[in-house]
Amino acid sequence: MKILGMSGSLRSDSHNSKLLKFSLERLSSKVQYCEYSIANLNLPLFNEDIENSKGIPPKVYKLAQSIKDSHAIFISTPEYNKNLSGVLKNALDWTSRVKPQPWKGKPIIILSAASGQSGGERAQYSLRQCLIPFDPVLFFAPEITVPDASNAFDEDDAPKSKIIREKIDRQLSNLEPYLV
Ligand SMILES: Cc1cc2nc3c(=O)[nH]c(=O)nc-3n(C[C@H](O)[C@H](O)[C@H](O)COP(=O)(O)O)c2cc1C
Repeated sequence: MKILGMSGSLRSDSHNSKLLKFSLERLSSKVQYCEYSIANLNLPLFNEDIENSKGIPPKVYKLAQSIKDSHAIFISTPEYNKNLSGVLKNALDWTSRVKPQPWKGKPIIILSAASGQSGGERAQYSLRQCLIPFDPVLFFAPEITVPDASNAFDEDDAPKSKIIREKIDRQLSNLEPYLV
């Protein structure tokens, strides 16, 4: 089965990218024939003028095709001013312009890592809200939030907290009915 990961942070040392990678590796260690890739969300800013003059950029088509080809998607979002990141919202807006939009019916695991004590909980809510028009399959529990993100990962980029690792495992079990 194919899994796609999306990190809402382009930062090279992103805690969200670490959390994403840890979770994807965890799934692939549990499931046979599971391959994952991480999407490139470094897209141009959405602008209908681009769409109207040059068409949807090839990078966006590629991303939409990866979403379409995946059996499940993992999204890890930072929290910027109590919301999801602009990078992520931009990717959602662009991919919604590809027809048919690729998100429908896709199981999505949501994660977040942030500096604050809520670990990006509010960013997750805003992300869920942004995903509603796409009609995916969203799981609501347990929420995988990583607070105080700059102190939350060990030297192997794994979450130090056993509770967080257990929550990741519980979320992964939500995917069982969708495994092929
Ligand atoms: C513009 C901006 C706004 C931020 N707003 C919040 C916030 O509302 N809540 C929070 O917990 N952290 C906030 N942070 C801190 C981020 O959670 C922190 O930088 C995090 O590490 C970003 O994710 P990354 O490590 O994946 O890049 C903000 C950071 C930036 C740059």
